[in-house]
Amino acid sequence: MPNYFALIPAAGYGARMDHQLPKQYLPLAGKPMIYHAIHTLCRSTAISRVFVVLSTEDPEWRKYDWSQFNDKLTVLYHGGATRAESVCNGLAAASTICPDCLISDEDWILVHDAARPLFTQNQLRQLIDEIGDDPVGGLLAVPVADTLKRGDRDARVAQTESRENLWQAQTPQMFRYRMLLNALSGNTHANVTDDASAIEALGLHPKLVHNRDFNFKVTYPQDLELAELIMQKRNHQ
Ligand code: CTP
Ligand code: MG
Repeated sequence: MPNYFALIPAAGYGARMDHQLPKQYLPLAGKPMIYHAIHTLCRSTAISRVFVVLSTEDPEWRKYDWSQFNDKLTVLYHGGATRAESVCNGLAAASTICPDCLISDEDWILVHDAARPLFTQNQLRQLIDEIGDDPVGGLLAVPVADTLKRGDRDARVAQTESRENLWQAQTPQMFRYRMLLNALSGNTHANVTDDASAIEALGLHPKLVHNRDFNFKVTYPQDLELAELIMQKRNHQ
């Protein structure tokens, strides 16, 4: 049976958040945002180990006490210039830094953004169950709900695009270790904004797993406000 590992890329700066602190450390429900993804993944009995990929110059991580996760968490200061590079570096470093993890080529890697704090155990179970032993792997995703406009350079509508069969990709995205590492090696440009697109570039078709719960990416300041409200509501249920 393959094992399941999680890898959290957290080496970005959060330019669109426009805050002096990298967004993964902004406070959310009394914790740095990244805490929530780590907590969900470390608490899952399905996941053997959780790797966090930080920027080589990250000064923030060590300001917090992460000791409650000591049995599951490995920190990798191997971030790159793009998300894809951070994931690729992290995958390569994981097997050398944690030889005891015995990561095999066929083991599953769940790559999850530090900036998706609303991800839950139920979503994790659904993803793992629906992917099963799929030969390619897949990702959580949501069908596009809004009407889509393609704009021109002057921000005027050039045309309306059909939203039929269009999905918004979320994370985790789960693929087998060797396939993902091979897909990302040499394919870490800024336009490879998720793991699935590297797999698609191999001519493969990742499975879309319909997520019906909140799991949006905190990108802009207003996303952080909404995430805070959803967390407060969940904590009172
Ligand atoms: N990420 C990373 N390495 C990078 C860029 C991004 O590990 N060089 C991580 C981010 O830390 C985040 C995830 O990839 O957890 C998703 O990326 P995104 O939401 O785009 O975060 P940022 O790149 O930090 O934000 P922005 O694009 O607004 O600068
Ligand atoms: Mg980014």
